[in-house]
Amino acid sequence: MRIRRKPWVRPELEACPFCIKKPFENKNKWNGMFGNSNPLHIELGCGKGGFISKLAPLHPEINYIAVDIKSEMLGLAKRKIEKEYADAGLEIKNVLIFAQNIEMIDEVFGENDVIDRIYINFCNPWPRKKHKKHRLTHPRQLQKYRTFLKDGGEIRFKTDDDGLFEDSIAYFEECGFEIKYLTKDLHSSGFEENIPTEHENMFSEMGIPIKFLIAVKK
Ligand SMILES: C[S@@+](CC[C@H](N)C(=O)[O-])C[C@H]1O[C@@H](n2cnc3c(N)ncnc32)[C@H](O)[C@@H]1O
Repeated sequence: MRIRRKPWVRPELEACPFCIKKPFENKNKWNGMFGNSNPLHIELGCGKGGFISKLAPLHPEINYIAVDIKSEMLGLAKRKIEKEYADAGLEIKNVLIFAQNIEMIDEVFGENDVIDRIYINFCNPWPRKKHKKHRLTHPRQLQKYRTFLKDGGEIRFKTDDDGLFEDSIAYFEECGFEIKYLTKDLHSSGFEENIPTEHENMFSEMGIPIKFLIAVKK
């Protein structure tokens, strides 16, 4: 996704208390970053933050980390998080954000981090064969997530893309995950916990059904 450079982003993220500037320094220490022992959920590729900013204030009993490769996206996510917490009259205590290339996620999360759930929403489908290894659900990535996702922990994955979805089902099974829930039309499935993302709203308005699955680490 193209996004214009915004001069306010860097200084705002620099000053933001819930934005981690050097995430690799916290490798293997993430669970201790919130001052409690609540479960930790992460969103990979959070984009403009529409999902995490709605989800996190609803669940003060869960800690969240949202990651995106682009600082511009993270800046927009930061503002959305601040607005949602302000509207709810809450202090921002259970969310951290940082910029990182998820293909190198093993530089920031390690085997001593205990993650209960991972959200991957509308990641790039990388349709060409030679690019498929960049998919955030590719086995190369799933093996990395397994090092810090606890046994019985979940990956919740949504996409508009049929090819990516079908391939990902096979990736999850190949990498020791059990598919606990699957729908090829989330919005008419009766699944109640859903929080739509920016891309989800866009694809949905175009009439494209949203594919969704929950994969559990065996
Ligand atoms: C299509 S957008 C989806 C954004 C949001 N999850 C949504 O559903 O609206 C994909 C997002 O993933 C981020 N992204 C893509 N590749 C990434 C990578 N390797 N590491 C971290 N973020 C990545 C992009 O910057 C972008 O914000």
